[in-house]
Amino acid sequence: MKTKKGKDRWAPLVESHPADRVSTTGTASGSPSGDSTAIFAQDLFDGIAHSYDTWAQALTFFQYLRWRRFLVSQMALCPRNLVLDVCTGTAGVALEIARHHNSQIVGLDISHSMLEAGLRAVERRSLDGRVQLIQGRAEHLPFPDETFDTVVFTYLLRYVQDPDATVRELSRVLKPGGQLLSLEFGAPETSWIRALWLIYNRVVMPIVTIPISRGWHRVGCFLGPNISDFCQQCPVDRIAAIWRENGIPLVETRRLFQGVAIVMWGTKRR
Ligand SMILES: C[S@@+](CC[C@H](N)C(=O)[O-])C[C@H]1O[C@@H](n2cnc3c(N)ncnc32)[C@H](O)[C@@H]1O
Repeated sequence: MKTKKGKDRWAPLVESHPADRVSTTGTASGSPSGDSTAIFAQDLFDGIAHSYDTWAQALTFFQYLRWRRFLVSQMALCPRNLVLDVCTGTAGVALEIARHHNSQIVGLDISHSMLEAGLRAVERRSLDGRVQLIQGRAEHLPFPDETFDTVVFTYLLRYVQDPDATVRELSRVLKPGGQLLSLEFGAPETSWIRALWLIYNRVVMPIVTIPISRGWHRVGCFLGPNISDFCQQCPVDRIAAIWRENGIPLVETRRLFQGVAIVMWGTKRR
């Protein structure tokens, strides 16, 4: 998927890797595993794309935008820098970057429906000359080595089978001296806040999403256990170690909203 004005300029960058062509016919349930991971993520987000922006905001008590803004505020960009926004979804991060920096942004996502909603948002703001959206997988980026000045990814690692290999792939397309940034859900450390967070994720979310739609109810049931499992298997220190092993020597971290969201950033070794 390409924006009209960006078409010619980025055409060589958008040939998709064969592994990007994920079938949309499969419907996984419960936790993703094995080869079904990508199909699961695609199906999950295709099911909520039409109302993603509204409900992602409401269900996070309107913190979602604040986290996104903090993420973008940590970007050190020069005019006309080239940015890759992985898991761009409805292009919220890409649009936030475009609002603050005069850069060119390529947004990549596995879900066609999320990208369609993103494309409408980009065109509404007449940013289709600066923001290009393409369908693809973070695990197999269709770009040459060291293409981008900045690579940002949001809520990705819970949806991939091998976080280590995925970070390696993200670092591969980043120029030496370029910045890698991420935003992910975390788990609060303070025990009583953690208890409230667990009640919200495990009890409230599955219930309040029932009247929204089937797609959102599926997300409401999936998200809590998925975040807890991921935080146990891949705590922040482990993720920072993965970044270091993949060429980002100094990793900075900020916990937002009592640790419910975590922003990380660092610069690739020259
Ligand atoms: C929670 S949404 C985040 C969207 C947007 N970045 C935001 O902040 O609102 C996560 C996105 O990751 C995408 N995604 C999940 N796994 C992916 C993968 N392996 N490669 C590319 N995109 C993926 C989903 O399709 C979804 O649009």
